[in-house]
Amino acid sequence: MKLIIGPASENLAIKTAKLAGYEKIKVIKKQFPDGEVYIRLDGSVKNENVAILQTTCPPQNINLMQLVFMASAAKLSGAKKVIGIIPYLAYARQDKIFLPGENISADTIAQMLKASGIDEIITVNVHQEDVLKRFSFPAKNLSAIPLLAEYIKQRGHNGAFSLAPDKGAVHIAEQAKKVLGGESGYLEKRRDRYTGELSVSKKNFNVKGKTSIIFDDIISTGGTIIKAAKILLDLGAARVFAACVHPLLIGNAEKRILNAGVEEIIGTDSVPSSFSKVSLAPLISQEIKAHEIG
Ligand code: R5P
Repeated sequence: MKLIIGPASENLAIKTAKLAGYEKIKVIKKQFPDGEVYIRLDGSVKNENVAILQTTCPPQNINLMQLVFMASAAKLSGAKKVIGIIPYLAYARQDKIFLPGENISADTIAQMLKASGIDEIITVNVHQEDVLKRFSFPAKNLSAIPLLAEYIKQRGHNGAFSLAPDKGAVHIAEQAKKVLGGESGYLEKRRDRYTGELSVSKKNFNVKGKTSIIFDDIISTGGTIIKAAKILLDLGAARVFAACVHPLLIGNAEKRILNAGVEEIIGTDSVPSSFSKVSLAPLISQEIKAHEIG
């Protein structure tokens, strides 16, 4: 197995290749003045099984195009099997038609990946795991929540309360609870399909005097975390932290979250940023090694 170092996940891919003991294939990339992307694989993949590690966080359209071009280039260069390792899978949140006339973006992306020559994918904390069942090729979802919870535990927060900001994230809070001990709970979240407006309400749990960690798959605008933090602080939580797998933090999300009383934001290098305190390299390298044996 050789590992193609996707430009959007360069550091993570280098760490992963080192841990897995795989040869790295570097990628030469550029962008034309009109915005189109160019990539060239700088190494041979002929008759090899290859994995491409490329996240598709913003700028997602560029990162997606680079990914499909790398896959297609690998196949054109004689690669046998191409595995796409896509920590953040763009467009996965639109996994059904909510309003008439919409597209199911997740399905379109899957078709694009397949057409480019990708034979299977591995992703991390995809928004809805069920979406992967509709893909016409093997697609595996890994969870980085135990890694995030372990990091938080090592920082002295053993026994902290793990909160899911909506029902869809309950499994996330439960995974965290297994590592942190303590209790877990969830909030009820509703988003207006037309205006995008959020409303979050509390369920029954006791966080008085406790350190509480809000665990989510994605932090985007920060709206969800801000509402959840307010509820925790109103209920008397002593300290509030926010942890997520994909720290997108668009615009001034960080400032707004910190202003809401959250002490720290902890994310992974699925989305390379100043919040990437936990690396996915051990999780991914372990999976591809197991994959190879399997
Ligand atoms: C949606 O249900 C996700 O799990 C996240 O809660 C959501 O994407 C976060 O978005 P924002 O930060 O904009 O509230």
